[in-house]
Amino acid sequence: MSATISLGMKKHHPVLLKKIISIISPQNGGTYVDCTFGQGGYSSKILTFPNTKVYGFDRDPKVSKKAFVLKKKYEKRFFFKNKKFSQINKNDLNNEAVDAFIFDLGLSSNQISDAKSGISFNSKGKLNMQMGINDFSANEVINYLEKKDLEKIFYHFGEEKFGRIIANKIEIERNKKKLLTEDLVKIIESVKKFKKGKHKATKIFQSIRMFVNKEVSELLFGLINSFKIVKPGGKIIVVTFHSIEDKIVKYFFKNFSENNKYSRYLPEIKNEKKLFILKNKKPIYPSLDEIKKYPSSRSAKLRYAEKNIDDDLFKDEFLEKFKYLTKVEDISKKL
Ligand SMILES: C[S@@+](CC[C@H](N)C(=O)[O-])C[C@H]1O[C@@H](n2cnc3c(N)ncnc32)[C@H](O)[C@@H]1O
Repeated sequence: MSATISLGMKKHHPVLLKKIISIISPQNGGTYVDCTFGQGGYSSKILTFPNTKVYGFDRDPKVSKKAFVLKKKYEKRFFFKNKKFSQINKNDLNNEAVDAFIFDLGLSSNQISDAKSGISFNSKGKLNMQMGINDFSANEVINYLEKKDLEKIFYHFGEEKFGRIIANKIEIERNKKKLLTEDLVKIIESVKKFKKGKHKATKIFQSIRMFVNKEVSELLFGLINSFKIVKPGGKIIVVTFHSIEDKIVKYFFKNFSENNKYSRYLPEIKNEKKLFILKNKKPIYPSLDEIKKYPSSRSAKLRYAEKNIDDDLFKDEFLEKFKYLTKVEDISKKL
């Protein structure tokens, strides 16, 4: 059965779905949390197995329509909340024992194609980039933040080499008129004239989107909370799409697992916590076949781990490690 869903929406391919099903083995039932419901590709598939229960969450209110259809079909086994995954608590899950938390951190095809969301560099008009439940938009970021702050955002969240020149040019241009999405694209293109490969605006757009949606703290607290809630022996599965997300997930699983050597250049740390058992030390990628059929899956990387013991002492160490990124998010307090 294909789990590709449509509902007046642009179809979204649920990346690495088969692999996820083989990791969670829902054949015997179980309770699962789909932290990034999207168009419900994962949830729909899991629910085809009898005796499963799915709690779906998404920050984007536009996905509620699809969630409503699933709710009608699986009234007693499917539950949905329009909520950010960093905020999921035991009450949302009726205090049930959870077998797996699943995060698919990409963008849904619908968000990319929705011109109003302004997430794609093909959009036109007012800058936005909000995924849902936001405090500010890309319009405020680009038109009001100081250029030194823009530079930090472009560098840390986009790893963009030309960040300083682009920030300078933004400052010059916005003094003439308020910048729209197409103006920002033009500025980036004018600076990165000779760049080949991915679209020139990819990194800058990623960095602004991450900032607007506070994606780093979402991920940090999403992981911390899912670890707290998932039952021992349960799994946390994360599909990432770029190196910043992957760095966080890799550190979380490797540093707090029995094989806690995060980097081969670092000495093994004597860490008695061993929160996780790592089943797969290396990330799992989509097959060439999947990538050929669905090119958007080409940057996907799946990592997962099994919870070993309950412990909450790791939280501060984890947050400290990525403070240099959450500090960049704090720039938003100026808005
Ligand atoms: C790639 S899509 C998920 C697709 C889904 N796996 C499917 O098969 O249809 C990612 C979704 O995660 C949602 N999302 C992103 N960050 C979130 C967060 N912090 N909390 C809740 N949902 C989030 C987005 O709104 C988007 O709908």
